[in-house]
Parts: sequence; C-alpha cells; structure tokens
Amino acid sequence: MNILGIETSCDETGIAIYNEQQGIVAQALYSQIELHAEYGGVVPELASRDHIRKTALLTDQVLQQSGLSSREIDAVAFTQGPGLIGALLVGATFGRSLAYSWGCPAVAVHHMEGHLLAPLLEDDKPDFPFVALLVSGGHSMLVDVKALGDYTILGESIDDAAGEAFDKTAKLMGLGYPGGPRLAKLAEQGRPGVHRFPRPMTDRPGLDFSFSGLKTFAANTLRSCDGSEQALADIAHAFQDAVIDTLMIKCRRALEQTGYQRLVVAGGVSANQQLRSGLAQLMKKRRGKVFYPRPEFCTDNGAMIAYAGYCRFKNGDRETLSINARPRWPL
Ligand code: KG4
Ligand code: ZN
Repeated sequence: MNILGIETSCDETGIAIYNEQQGIVAQALYSQIELHAEYGGVVPELASRDHIRKTALLTDQVLQQSGLSSREIDAVAFTQGPGLIGALLVGATFGRSLAYSWGCPAVAVHHMEGHLLAPLLEDDKPDFPFVALLVSGGHSMLVDVKALGDYTILGESIDDAAGEAFDKTAKLMGLGYPGGPRLAKLAEQGRPGVHRFPRPMTDRPGLDFSFSGLKTFAANTLRSCDGSEQALADIAHAFQDAVIDTLMIKCRRALEQTGYQRLVVAGGVSANQQLRSGLAQLMKKRRGKVFYPRPEFCTDNGAMIAYAGYCRFKNGDRETLSINARPRWPL
C-alpha cells in the first residue's frame, strides 16, 4: 500500500510517499524561507502562490524517485488544517483533485497529528501510550496520546507558541527570519547567570503555557543593554533558558499526572539542542525514554502527512468530494 502525502499549511511544500512495508520511499521538500525573509515573516498570499508553483512539480519528483506509477498510489493524504487558509486551500484542492483524477480516495490530515506521529517513522519508535510535547511556530501543546486518534490535550499555549516566541524575540534582536535557530545559535555564546528571565505559569498548577511575556521581558532587557554581540548573546541565553526550563517543568508535570514513562517531542522547536539535552537528563532521572523524529522530520514535511494519512486511511477515514480547509482545527 502506498500513500502520497501533501503538506502546504505554512511556508514549506512537502510531498512524500509512505509504503506500508518499506516506510518513506520518496520525499521532496521545498522551503519558501528565502521568499519571506525580506518581509521578516511569512506573507500568506505569497505562500499560497508559491505552493501552487511547487505542488505538481514535487509530486512528479517523488513519483519518479519512488519508481511508482500513479496507479500504484492507494490514497492521497493532504493537510486540511490548521494553518494559513490560502496555503491549506492549495494543498486541499490539489490533493483532492489528484485523488479524483487517479481514481483513489483522499484523506484529510490534521497537521499536528502529523507532527505527533512523525516519531513513529523511526526504527526506535514509541509504543502507546505516551505524552507528546508538540512545539512549533504555530502551536505549543502537551497531549496525552493513549492510542491512534485518542488524544487529550493536557495543556497548550494561551498566547504565543514556543517557536513564535523564539522568532519574535529573534526579530527584536535583529537576527532576521526565521529567527528561532539563529537565536539558539547565538545563545551558545551567552554567559549563564547574567540575566534571569521568568518561567511563566510555573508557579501555579496546570499545564498551559504562556510565552508572550518573555518576548516583552527580552525587549525591556534589550533596551537597557549596550547592544554589543556579547550583550545580545547573554539575552539570547537567558531567553532560551527560560523557554526550555518552562517546557521541561511542564513535561515533568505531564508525566507525573499521566504516570507514563514515554515522552514524544515533535515540531520545529524539538530541533533545539538545549531542549534535547535537558529532556534526555529528565527522562534518565525518571527511568523513562524520550523519542524524536529524525531532524528533517522535526519541521514541516510531507513524510509526516503521508504517514498520518496512512494511519487514518487504515482506520477507514475518507474525504468527501468537496474541498475543505480548516485553518482553525482543534486536535
Ligand atoms: O513545525 P515547524 O516547522 O512549523 C510550524 O508548524 O510552525 O516549526 C517552525 C518553528 C519556528 O518557529 C522556528 O523558529 C522553530 O520552529 N525552530 C526552533 C529551532 N529550530 C526551529 N526554535 C528553537 N530552536 C531551534 N533550534
Ligand atoms: Zn508544523
């Protein structure tokens, strides 16, 4: 069985084919980063137009790479939401039409379920149940994953997502777009203990996050610093420490609350090295285990949509002939 997956929810066009026996057999990813960089963030209309340019091209590429013909594709999965409405509509229209013309079913995939299931593409994959920490540019959430499709949200961000806070703070610091990885790199040069940023919402029970205050804290600290490279690095360091520490405190609580020993971390921020080493230590102490997707599947990609689509297809899910996008779609 072969499932073609299409991801177009934000600024990455990702297409991949998942084969039931062999796993991901072909994939292509096109990032629009350069297109949006000069605007300092994703421009939704430009994103939609660029997805239109790339979806058919990349689909041809992955079919060629896989050596499969369109007749051998059993279903077409596409990201139906959440995300930018125009960008989603490109994937939904393309995916739905492709399935129609190939005479196979279409399957709608939730973008965050794609992230959540991405670690299952690895050889060393987690069994159910597990706690999932999903941290991307659009979302921060902790999920109790009992089984495929059985998800309870334990907590989520009430304002900025973790990646968004990284990006916005990086922008304030003049690090450009996308700022998250750049801020993380600069933080390596920062000296510990120069600033102490708050750990939002850790002084009360609960698993929700709030990161927008950290950005304001960074803005205020920036105003009173000398603007040198070292001063910026010290701020980056303190900011990153606060975000990572907060995420770790909430992960520990979620594990205590559920009694689970397995933690899955996915979404763009899961590429952060400090988060990874902190969680490795935490799980070692708890005699549990943390699972990640391989680095290229941490950020948006077609492979996670092909795989989540495969799981949904096996589950009997099928899309109707109408074309729907769901920019705000709860998990
Ligand atoms: O999952 P993703 O590719 O897209 C969304 O669905 O949002 O996540 C992108 C986010 C961006 O905010 C980016 O700055 C952040 O992940 N990110 C990082 C790192 N790498 C990517 N944040 C902190 N440290 C990193 N190393
Ligand atoms: Zn994502």
